[in-house]
Amino acid sequence: MIHARVIGTGSFLPGAPVSNNDLVARGIDTSDEWIVERTGICRRHLAEPDVTASQLAYEASTRAIAAAGCQPADIDLIIVATSTPDYIFPSTAALLQSKLGIVNGGAAFDLQAVCTGFAYALSTAEKFIRSGSHKRALVVGAEVFSRILDWNDRGTCVLFGDGAGAVVLEASDKPGILATALHADGSHNGILCVPGQVNRGGITGDPFLRMDGQAVFKFAVKVLSDVAREVVDQAGLTIDDVDWLIPHQANIRIMQATAKRLGVPTEKVIATVSEHGNTSAASIPLALDLAVRDGRIQRGHKILLEGVGGGFTWGAALLEF
Ligand code: ACO
Repeated sequence: MIHARVIGTGSFLPGAPVSNNDLVARGIDTSDEWIVERTGICRRHLAEPDVTASQLAYEASTRAIAAAGCQPADIDLIIVATSTPDYIFPSTAALLQSKLGIVNGGAAFDLQAVCTGFAYALSTAEKFIRSGSHKRALVVGAEVFSRILDWNDRGTCVLFGDGAGAVVLEASDKPGILATALHADGSHNGILCVPGQVNRGGITGDPFLRMDGQAVFKFAVKVLSDVAREVVDQAGLTIDDVDWLIPHQANIRIMQATAKRLGVPTEKVIATVSEHGNTSAASIPLALDLAVRDGRIQRGHKILLEGVGGGFTWGAALLEF
């Protein structure tokens, strides 16, 4: 039986951290106290206006490929999860492939499931590998949410950051990804959206992120705990078998409430939201890479990744590292 195993991780954050007080100094009507108390966010990284998702993806990918001990030419599948692509087309994945110097390569495409994007991309890549069609996949979450934020809307602009995270998945005879589950319910599309479109040379609708924060909060806690249980059951394990929970890093209160519902102790939750803010599809691979590099995550550990985002979409993956 062919399994898909993570053989390398990498991540990248642009520029210096921007603190909550830095946002106040930039004229946003907020306070460090309000942001920390409501969200747990202290800092985030914001890319310069000319920095694109494919550039962040490239930096994270080179680190993941080096950690995997392989070469870009060994990659035969690239999936980039992003809601802030460089262009309408070509895909960010195709641009990344070119930046990596891969010519005449395998498949490369973008996948859009907002903050669940990395869970969707990982699960998709796993299926390619398990089918035997591909051997080594680069799976990336890369976002420049700063470009879709309304900096006059203090209820949303303080929540997000930019960054990228990547993993290399390889076909293996040893178990790697043990179970995945993906879901969507498009009837909730209005509670978190960027409801604009490029149309005949202009923008029709609203080009900024809009959110009903309280509706998102309630929805997120419920579906995150449900989907976590689903993948653990699917793998024939229990929550106690999980060494590390890496939830999408939207808000520390959502993460704590989910962990509590699941009965996962706080010490097992990898949290980067205080330092990164919400980096959407990049948040899970960024947190994963940090915990791999600081030595918390070791080979053989069981890791539960879970995300929720606009659409609404949600999903999880349980893997043996
Ligand atoms: N600084 C200071 N005051 C603020 C700010 C701010 N940045 N933003 C809003 N306020 C004010 C509002 O104007 C309002 O003031 P009023 O009472 O005088 O009208 C007050 O704070 C309360 O506003 P609410 O929107 O009701 O605040 P709430 O307690 O719901 O917190 C928050 C907002 C943090 C967004 C919360 O709803 C939340 O955590 N929701 C989850 C959403 C989330 O994390 N989304 C991330 C993206 S989704 C995803 O990744 C899955």
